[in-house]
Amino acid sequence: MTVTILAIAGSVRARSYNRMLVRAAIEVAPEGAAIETASIEDIPLYNGDLEEAGVPAAVQDLKNRIAGASGVLLVTPEYNNSLPGVFKNAIDWTSRPSTDMARVWGGRPVGVIGATPGLGGTNLAQAVWLPVLRTADEAASPAWVYPAGSPLVAATRPFHDGSPAADVFWGPSVHWNTYLEQYVMLLNRAKNDQFGQEGIYVSYSPTLSDPSRWTAPVKLMSGGEWYPQVIGEETGTGTDRMAGRRARFFMTGRSDRWIEFER
Ligand SMILES: Cc1cc2nc3c(=O)[nH]c(=O)nc-3n(C[C@H](O)[C@H](O)[C@H](O)COP(=O)(O)O)c2cc1C
Repeated sequence: MTVTILAIAGSVRARSYNRMLVRAAIEVAPEGAAIETASIEDIPLYNGDLEEAGVPAAVQDLKNRIAGASGVLLVTPEYNNSLPGVFKNAIDWTSRPSTDMARVWGGRPVGVIGATPGLGGTNLAQAVWLPVLRTADEAASPAWVYPAGSPLVAATRPFHDGSPAADVFWGPSVHWNTYLEQYVMLLNRAKNDQFGQEGIYVSYSPTLSDPSRWTAPVKLMSGGEWYPQVIGEETGTGTDRMAGRRARFFMTGRSDRWIEFER
């Protein structure tokens, strides 16, 4: 299988060292790697109005070339201890519209090299590319990936009671209970579009590392208020994350009762 790497030189002058470096990279590419090239020559200055009117063809072409490559090699000059504006302009364009970021940059490995007559070897420019590329990668990746596990109510058991009204567990708080030697989660259950409070439920798990271990929620009380929570009353250790057999029970940030756990 051939790995395709798209090399983009950040200079458009005819005798550019960085364009020469691309040619050198092609010559020394190992077997199984094909280095293709893309130019930033026809990329216009970024302009939000232009984008609104439709991403220019040269930009669309560059984006498609990046999306079709296994990896990208940025070959960067260094201007005034940083990266050249013309090159940044081209890469900024490839991040637009942001809804296309995942397709273009998502998970794509990027290498950065560069040439200069200066002694620094473009190290300062290369360093400035790193936060740019990190931004591209973060914007392209989902911010949070739901861990493998099972829902609180197994999908094989009916969760909804047949009514089309909303029916959700939400607003959980979790604490380690030293008496039960288990994690305890208190949850709200809402059963209509206004998040009307149906009740407060409890679920247990011996570990936080395996979401499938949480027990199916059991109803503690009907009604109640939002954000059920306990605070342990043991001196020094009692917190909202650690409690013992008896703890203060809070709803919506106020407590007027205790909760007592039984094994
Ligand atoms: C505006 C400008 C700023 C520059 N600043 C630096 C610099 O900070 N460090 C450096 O090593 N070279 C610097 N240079 C020199 C470039 O490395 C040199 O012009 C190089 O040939 C540009 O790359 P190219 O040959 O691919 O066009 C600068 C050149 C220009 C035009």
